[in-house]
Amino acid sequence: MKHLLSIEKLARADLEKILADAVVMKHERGAHTTQPLKGQTWALIFSKSSTRTRVSFEVGIHELGGRPMFLSAVDIQLGRGEPIKDTARVLGRMVHGAVFRTFAQRDVEEFAQYANIPTINALTDEEHPCQVLADVQTIQEQLGAIRGKVVTFIGDGACNMADSWIFAAAKLGFELRVAAPKSFQPTPTLLKRAGGKIICTTDVKAAARGADVLYTDVWVSMGKEAESAQRLKKLKGYQLNQSLVKLAQPGALVMHCLPAYRGKEIDEATFEANAQTIFDQAENRLHAQKAVLAWAVS
Ligand code: CP
Ligand code: NVA
Repeated sequence: MKHLLSIEKLARADLEKILADAVVMKHERGAHTTQPLKGQTWALIFSKSSTRTRVSFEVGIHELGGRPMFLSAVDIQLGRGEPIKDTARVLGRMVHGAVFRTFAQRDVEEFAQYANIPTINALTDEEHPCQVLADVQTIQEQLGAIRGKVVTFIGDGACNMADSWIFAAAKLGFELRVAAPKSFQPTPTLLKRAGGKIICTTDVKAAARGADVLYTDVWVSMGKEAESAQRLKKLKGYQLNQSLVKLAQPGALVMHCLPAYRGKEIDEATFEANAQTIFDQAENRLHAQKAVLAWAVS
């Protein structure tokens, strides 16, 4: 049984296979010769909002011959307190695979354990593996192999995106710099679990200097809304803007997983100057996830 629960738990060989297959999925879109999900129904269980993840999975499952079934957590009994493990055992008897967006990482893991069907993490508080796959695909399209490159993550260094980048760095052999205020740095435990070359600093300029990629994410992740005021205050000096771009390699990529909040984690001019790359990232969600789906049922 194959699951994509996190970048941390994804074997390096599987990560590399998915990235290679994502390129083929993109190239062959509209002309696939096989339908690996033919006759299958996949549940999309979402406890948080989504535009890109929901649409890319619905379209991707359809293009691979399957049928997506969107289940907002508030509409099913899960939202009224039915345990994950019961929901999982019901769905596991009816559908062929599940894509789950929720809060706690352990909930996705518990779902996979009890459902006994391929399960994909569509974002938790701890990881967003599908986004990092699409991002690495985008980097490799534009800069060639990611191995040996320098990726700088700026902002909330303790969020799900930062975590997935941290686990990807050791597996794919690139240097990751995390520029974040002290209270938004990755934990030593997480860094130890990941290994690899991760440089954590509060000095955003030093982190941007000579980087091949400058990456940011929202300052207030879903579920952290109560901390908004405090986060905006603490993260203020960590905006991805033209002054940081000037310090990076000439031609460095500016990336954002979206949704973006202009004037907060990125400024309007920097966002629009790099919109091509940013929306390539969004498009690559479709191709990378189709590669994940095909791998999961292989
Ligand atoms: N980047 C991302 O996962 O977007 P959504 O929240 O819209 O799915
Ligand atoms: N860190 C963000 C990612 C959104 C795709 C969040 O969890 O809201």
